[in-house]
Amino acid sequence: MVHQSVDSQASAVVGLQWGDEGKGKLVDLLASEFDAVVRYNGGANAGHSVVVGGERYSLHLVPSGILSPGVKAIIGNGVVIDPERLLEELKTLQDRGVDTSGMVISDRAHVVMPYHKAEDALREELLTAPVDGGSVQTKQVVSAIGTTRRGIGPAYADKVQRATAIRIGDLLNPEILASKLEMICAMKNTVFAALHPSEPEVFDAAQLTEEMVAIGKRLEPMIQDTAYLLDDLRRAGKSILFEGANATMLDVDHGTFPYVTSSNASALGIGPGSGVPPQAVTQIIGVVKAYCTRVGGGPMPTELFDAIGEDIRRRGREFGTTTGRPRRVGWLDLVALKYAAMISGATELCITLLDVLSGEPELKLAVAYDMPSGRTDRFIADGILLDDAVPVYETMVGFSEDITAVRSFDELPPSARAYIERIESFVGVPVGTVSVGPDREQTIRR
Ligand code: GDP
Ligand code: IMO
Ligand code: MG
Repeated sequence: MVHQSVDSQASAVVGLQWGDEGKGKLVDLLASEFDAVVRYNGGANAGHSVVVGGERYSLHLVPSGILSPGVKAIIGNGVVIDPERLLEELKTLQDRGVDTSGMVISDRAHVVMPYHKAEDALREELLTAPVDGGSVQTKQVVSAIGTTRRGIGPAYADKVQRATAIRIGDLLNPEILASKLEMICAMKNTVFAALHPSEPEVFDAAQLTEEMVAIGKRLEPMIQDTAYLLDDLRRAGKSILFEGANATMLDVDHGTFPYVTSSNASALGIGPGSGVPPQAVTQIIGVVKAYCTRVGGGPMPTELFDAIGEDIRRRGREFGTTTGRPRRVGWLDLVALKYAAMISGATELCITLLDVLSGEPELKLAVAYDMPSGRTDRFIADGILLDDAVPVYETMVGFSEDITAVRSFDELPPSARAYIERIESFVGVPVGTVSVGPDREQTIRR
């Protein structure tokens, strides 16, 4: 039997640094050209800001395509969903007049339960407190990850553990849910009592079941088998845009492990996180901030601890969309970027927040690292070893003009153009879009 051909093509927007590159803005900008926007990884650890006509929206679980009328907003199976937060987010959008009727949720997405958030917080606290090494004192090489405490790691851990996981589809089956939660709460309560005997968290299975069944009823109209839905859409020739959350350098396999998130946050997560086969995705837009930022722990070789870093943080309003934490700021790291473009298979780049660099007399770009073993132009995908990297910089002339009203590449100051062209030549991927402000309109298409 010959299979019917599927010729609809899909695109993806994915972060190539440590998150907050401006993915939300780009997805919103492109969404109206697509029939569906799909989240495939992460959870409410993501914070995607979209500014439309001066109005700012912060999206955490809902795909940014929701703001484009008529576009389906799909949460794929690879996402871990805090269902209460999702309902709150939808309510906030509805209260602001956004039509959320295009929302669809995978029955196979995993549920972030209250005990996952408690485990996330407890694990971070235990990592922060000195470890009692008994008679042999060793240096603690892993410190707190600096998670968003949204329960992401523990929810993915339970997914991989299998027996202790709850999926969205379970919320529609009270008997299955009650039975699972009874077993899970007994296990979790034992662990909490052992890890934190003075104030153990106690979760009541019956109460949790009741709450989750009620939430399931509210979510039910949105729940579907999204793998079949996406296949149907593709067979009908509809176009799909995947919206990456978190970013390539936070990918659990290819990022700065262990200082990463718990999903495949690079473009590699699209297949497993949606059920769409890899060859369907032909355009992968890698979003790159014109400098680097990072929230939480882990190495960032080009981090700035001086007044320049402060200036960039202030001008770029570099405070987290999800947790409000100040973001760490540094020069653009081309070694890390070229690696991330390779891992995510970027077919083009979108450079964002270029306007923030205006006023810096000099712009530095890391083009290699000095390691204890010598100089290298290869990224070291290990969050402990990377700590030793000393960046080797190339210095370019900066620009001082306000570029927020520029709408064509040729109108950019020559040194801003040269900066973009240097990124392009080093990474070997063309820059298709440059963003010069948060609003939809503040965008240059090349
Ligand atoms: P995301 O997580 O990748 O969607 O990024 P965030 O929304 O967390 O962070 C990006 C921030 O930069 C948001 O506040 C955006 O509104 C803002 N932003 C996006 N593009 C630009 C730009 O080109 N210039 C400036 N100044 N701000 C931008
Ligand atoms: P968006 O989609 C920036 C970081 C956290 C922490 C690490 C692990 O807005 O770009 P987690 O809660 O996932 O276990 O935290 O990953 N992190 C992000 N940083 N932007 C994000 O998402 C992030 N998602 C996770 O700060 O260091
Ligand atoms: Mg963000």
